Amino acid sequence: MQLVDTCIHHNLQSDIMMIPAIGHYIVNSGGKRLRPLLTLLTAKLFAYQGERHVPLSVVVEFIHTASLLHDDVVDSSDHRRGAPSANGVWGNQASVLVGDYLFSRAFQMMVADGDMAMLKLMSDVTNALAEGEVLQLSRTFHLQMTEAECLEVIERKTAVLFKAATEVGAHVAGQAERVVVDMAAYGMCLGVAFQLMDDALDYLAAAEDAGKPVGHDLEEGKITLPLIYAMQQDQALVARVEIVAERGCYEAGDREWVRAKVVENGGVDYAMQRAKDYAERAKCLLPEQANVEVKQLLADLADFSAHRPY
Ligand code: FPP
Ligand code: MG
Repeated sequence: MQLVDTCIHHNLQSDIMMIPAIGHYIVNSGGKRLRPLLTLLTAKLFAYQGERHVPLSVVVEFIHTASLLHDDVVDSSDHRRGAPSANGVWGNQASVLVGDYLFSRAFQMMVADGDMAMLKLMSDVTNALAEGEVLQLSRTFHLQMTEAECLEVIERKTAVLFKAATEVGAHVAGQAERVVVDMAAYGMCLGVAFQLMDDALDYLAAAEDAGKPVGHDLEEGKITLPLIYAMQQDQALVARVEIVAERGCYEAGDREWVRAKVVENGGVDYAMQRAKDYAERAKCLLPEQANVEVKQLLADLADFSAHRPY
């Protein structure tokens, strides 16, 4: 991971000062570096001895970082991880453009790596990522959203990058197609668990106590699994959400009332249970023949994704 950090900082260098300034700001803003860690661990799981996994893990992290820079503009979020977001500090234009820089830098790095299979994998993944965000946008305040539609958005907007992280690791380690497919599926399931927890935490008061703002998803028009489940149990909640959707924003008392109803109707517990199911599914996909210690770490990471308190 130290090599990953060095590689990140090396690739943020530019004589256009705003690029390293914003780049360092966002990559040092308390992210968990979960995606590069997954790439490194997957490569290590298969005893990979080369060095390609380091820059390729940074490719995944840069695409993730670019997507966050763009996402905070799209969502008009001025905070991320308890601090002002890059657009909150430098404004929307700078955030979008530095996001473009990171995105294109990631592709330069893949060209330097020189493996057409890797370029195909990552271009397909970023395309799916963009599609996922457009799909989510087109479902803004779509109260008829089903669990299956919700999972489709999650797979496309979040889980694909986790899938890319583990698929890259297995691919560089020269694994057979069957193993690469299983490791990609492990990453996908872990990614779904991760996003389901994120969606659950958005309705959990304890998350707010831990410094994470809650109650934003509905305000942004995102109909997530805790809300979908709770609305199936409670008509009064549906009626109130319809009013919020029509108005397009909360009024006094809405946030807390909706949040409490989602919890009361078991929406948070349901989403968390689904997250745990996905984490279990991820663990079952880890190969039998592999480094035992690393395999345990990957199993722990799957559990972490479905249990993280923030
Ligand atoms: C966070 O979701 C955002 C994403 C998982 C993906 C964002 C992707 C894009 C904006 C597409 C950009 C594409 C490229 C290729 C640069 P969230 O808003 O639910 O979570 P949050 O609470 O972290 O904001
Ligand atoms: Mg967002």
